[in-house]
Amino acid sequence: MSIWDPVPALPATVDTTQPSAARAYDYFLGGSHNFAADREFANQVLAIAPSIPAVTRLNRSFLRRAVHYCLDQGIRQFLDLGSGIPTVGNTHQVADAAGIAARVVYVDNEPVAYHHAQHVLGGSETATIIQADMRDLPAVLDHPDTRRLLDFTQPVGLLAVGVLLYLEDPQPAELLGAYRQRLAPGSLVAVSTLTDEHASPELRAEMELLRGAYESAGEPVYPRDHAEILRWFDGLDLIDPGLVTLPEWHPQDQVELDDPAKPLGYGAVARVP
Ligand SMILES: C[S@@+](CC[C@H](N)C(=O)[O-])C[C@H]1O[C@@H](n2cnc3c(N)ncnc32)[C@H](O)[C@@H]1O
Repeated sequence: MSIWDPVPALPATVDTTQPSAARAYDYFLGGSHNFAADREFANQVLAIAPSIPAVTRLNRSFLRRAVHYCLDQGIRQFLDLGSGIPTVGNTHQVADAAGIAARVVYVDNEPVAYHHAQHVLGGSETATIIQADMRDLPAVLDHPDTRRLLDFTQPVGLLAVGVLLYLEDPQPAELLGAYRQRLAPGSLVAVSTLTDEHASPELRAEMELLRGAYESAGEPVYPRDHAEILRWFDGLDLIDPGLVTLPEWHPQDQVELDDPAKPLGYGAVARVP
């Protein structure tokens, strides 16, 4: 089964007339799992914050490099929080492409992300998605699929990529701290999020308008500065080069390093001591 196969009809409970940030993100990445209301919202965002598709691509590229890093460190199981609507380069596909057998539990609370991921994953024995709010630790960690696929006595790759921007302080630090209690030493935690700290006045203005648009849509987002994000890693050992802009984390691509949207995202990977 591939991401290009037709997806079965959505459950009737999914309200496709309300825009969703998850489906707008899919639209920014060039995906097709979005509806008219999502596209209308996404186009409004594009009009006021044209850098957003570039940030989403930089974020997706960071995710791929972070997963590769985890695999290189011997991590063979992942908990991917806020995994989104499957597009190219999902965590299990990064491992597959590297020829490494890994077990992956995706978590998303958005019904279309859940529905489509279920379809993409089909009958996979080693990757699954659960529909849950990542803040509900028992719903995530005690889910039968999580128990079946992940062994928390062994290192896990915990991914919170492009998702903590939806949480108001102090939730990101509390959330990472709570998951961290369950992670074995040697586990790796990858985080990326939105920032406008070193943005030009033009980019900063875009971020202000973007925040307003997401707030009006009922999905507020919170850009953070470096010092705020560093606090999320309390008790963890940051991997070199620490918390940096997305393309600067284990850089691979000069085009990304030169991207004008670079100042809008930070990423880091840290180890549980
Ligand atoms: C911007 S997308 C990021 C997708 C993917 N992690 C990536 O970086 O490409 C954020 C995803 O997080 C999901 N999300 C937001 N808040 C969540 C929560 N509290 N629990 C679970 N998923 C959440 C959204 O539904 C969306 O699919």
